[in-house]
Amino acid sequence: MSGKNAHLANREFYRGKRVFVTGHTGYKGAWLTAILHELGAEATGYALTPPEGGMFAHMGGETMIHSVTGDMRDLAAVKAAVEEAQPEIVFHLAAQAIVNDCFEDPHYAYETNVMGTVNLFEAIRECPSVRSVVVITTDKVYENKGDGAVYVETDPLGGIDPYSSSKTCMEYITDTYKRSYLQTAARTVGVSTVRASNVLGGGDHVKSRLIPSILSSIAAGQPVELRHPHQTRPWQSMLDALNGYLAIGRLMYEEPERYSSQWNIGPTRDGIREVVWVVEQMQKHYTSVEYTGGVYIGN
Ligand SMILES: NC(=O)c1ccc[n+]([C@@H]2O[C@H](COP(=O)([O-])OP(=O)(O)OC[C@H]3O[C@@H](n4cnc5c(N)ncnc54)[C@H](O)[C@@H]3O)[C@@H](O)[C@H]2O)c1
Repeated sequence: MSGKNAHLANREFYRGKRVFVTGHTGYKGAWLTAILHELGAEATGYALTPPEGGMFAHMGGETMIHSVTGDMRDLAAVKAAVEEAQPEIVFHLAAQAIVNDCFEDPHYAYETNVMGTVNLFEAIRECPSVRSVVVITTDKVYENKGDGAVYVETDPLGGIDPYSSSKTCMEYITDTYKRSYLQTAARTVGVSTVRASNVLGGGDHVKSRLIPSILSSIAAGQPVELRHPHQTRPWQSMLDALNGYLAIGRLMYEEPERYSSQWNIGPTRDGIREVVWVVEQMQKHYTSVEYTGGVYIGN
């Protein structure tokens, strides 16, 4: 599907649709909130309190979405929020999404990412208004072949660290709920996972990620420290990833069986670059950016 056409079709489709977004207070969730507001959707969000200094608070997100504060680990609260919203389309973004945080506290990461996803599907199972469910995972769900090859959707799964492994579990949970409860003789709901790569865009509040850490270094007059300057990552625009999520949500609503799948969203080969390339792009705009080959902790 062409990105431009998908964008126009999304604009028509989402006006007046009831949409439920988990993780609406986070980095991607705040952008999705703003876009759904712009498209005229009736959106409800479910997440923890917005982070201080994050984009959701800055942009006045509370005025753009019916914002429910709650924990994905709380089954009763998740069910109550879904029941009240009666959504047609669900986007599941809520997660412990920082690789290092998950490494430090794997129990919380698994509770949130794994059981949080189970809790959401339990709520959806009891909510007949839902027609389309988009579960956001990551390209880190793939078994790392270490050969630099581009992943395709049929490649073997096998994230190893707690973040990647918990996200891999979300893939299996989603498939199980789809096959066992949501695509049966009684009901056909569109259900997909979407595996995007690193996104770049404004408003990232997570200081350990690359762009915020470069900007912090500039502010402090210090060189930015890169742990793996020559590691290659697929960099893409936030808007491309969100436009893809919205298109998949729409297409499954219209033709649930045809479009239910596992989807990669990533850049063209041009966007597959070393970490240091991003720093070099920043150097074009901020002459004070320097880096060392020391420690950069992020994802
Ligand atoms: N940012 C990226 O580059 C990237 C890349 C690939 C995939 N993803 C995935 O996209 C999704 C959103 O990522 P992000 O960058 O916006 O993350 P983020 O950390 O900025 O936001 C996470 C959101 O999840 C919510 N959340 C966390 N724990 C929760 C809990 N226990 N109960 C309820 N809500 C909880 C937070 O309140 C917040 O709204 C995640 O699923 C992440 O794994 C992100």
